[in-house]
Amino acid sequence: MSATRRSFLAGLAAAGGALAAAPEQLRALLARAPERTPLPHVPPEGSLPRAFWQDLRGQFLIPPDEEFFNTGTLGSQPRVVLDAVIDHMTHVVRDIAHWDYHPDHEQYFTGYNPETRVREKLASLIGADTDEVALTQNATMGMSFVANGLDLGPGDEVIVMEGSHTGGRGGWELRDKRYGAHVRYVRPPAPAESPGQLLALYADATTPQTRVWAIPHLTSGSGAIRFPVASMCRRARELGILTVVDGAQTLGHLTIDVRQMGCDAFFSSPHKWLLAPVGTGMLYVRREVQPRIWATLASSQWDNHEAGLYRLMQYGTGNLSLLVGLERAIDFHVALGPARVEERIVGLADGLRAGLAAVPGVFIRSPLHPELRSATTIWGLDGVPGATLQDELWARAKVRVRRNGDGVRQCCHVYNSETGVERTLEVARELAGS
Ligand SMILES: Cc1ncc(COP(=O)(O)O)c(C=O)c1O
Repeated sequence: MSATRRSFLAGLAAAGGALAAAPEQLRALLARAPERTPLPHVPPEGSLPRAFWQDLRGQFLIPPDEEFFNTGTLGSQPRVVLDAVIDHMTHVVRDIAHWDYHPDHEQYFTGYNPETRVREKLASLIGADTDEVALTQNATMGMSFVANGLDLGPGDEVIVMEGSHTGGRGGWELRDKRYGAHVRYVRPPAPAESPGQLLALYADATTPQTRVWAIPHLTSGSGAIRFPVASMCRRARELGILTVVDGAQTLGHLTIDVRQMGCDAFFSSPHKWLLAPVGTGMLYVRREVQPRIWATLASSQWDNHEAGLYRLMQYGTGNLSLLVGLERAIDFHVALGPARVEERIVGLADGLRAGLAAVPGVFIRSPLHPELRSATTIWGLDGVPGATLQDELWARAKVRVRRNGDGVRQCCHVYNSETGVERTLEVARELAGS
């Protein structure tokens, strides 16, 4: 038994007889108790030295000789998250006969409960209130709930970025085809050079019929452009236009404060940068805007406007163990500190970009402007197809990136290191013949 669990049990014993008389409650608490794998010890304040990040690598199961740089597709969960999911799944299959349906006792699935605790933690992470956050299964679901839930019809317009991820725009295109709410596309600049240029892209395409700006916070392909969401949302609000921000690539990557951002809706996939279990998602909708959004999936609470966005969590039976893992992933991220994570991973990417810029024949497609850059870099090498570059990085250095157009996309996260960056640069130099 771990020290954490032992002290937890001791705490329970000290709490006295009430719990001893209620084994189901005890079991419920145990199921959610601090688990066998504790969170890493992180100093609460100050920047974290390189040695800290090197040690943190031991929290991940990725073999030490492999460098995984494709968090933009899927993150690799730290041990604390994985163990929490496995332990909870084991508990569910083993102890299911103890499920007695008393409302104040433990539940064994999700889909019929507001899951307040994990929503509270997510809300606190993004600067929202708990009833402004719904749990979904990914970003696509959040985007679809907003796009499908708004009353829009013929004559109304939605501005969408051409080539943005389908999980950030498919719902708007469906509305266009089915109900005639017109999608107006804006084309991303290549390269993106200034925040003003990106704001102007949407502002110039706006007409008196425009109702929504669908904005990618950070594009996944399309140059990995970080949009100036705060100034865009401010401008849209002045024009009476709703802003729906696709944060699939930013939660767990950049610090997020939806109030500061001023968006009306924000959705994300915590299974990417937040390092949460696969199949977890979130949607934020500003309280004042909630009445304008119909539910898409309907079970018992679909029309309950008293309970905030719980109304949009009526998806039927779901896997509670994944939410236990999501909660642990939030704890892990908060323990590291979102600002320190951002500083570390954007810093690693800055090192990568600086190194690449010195290799003859290398081009960098993602922005270098300080407000538009991120921990994601899209780069390539003249004369080397993106797929070849991807495979060469793996074959020569066990560096896993993802091909992207004529180059590759390389996402730096907390499990990456200066060594992984250096290994990338060595391969780039070899291929460039320099
Ligand atoms: C910018 C962006 N939006 C939306 C999505 C869709 O995410 P999911 O498949 O988790 O719904 C992705 C996935 O890569 C993405 O990069």
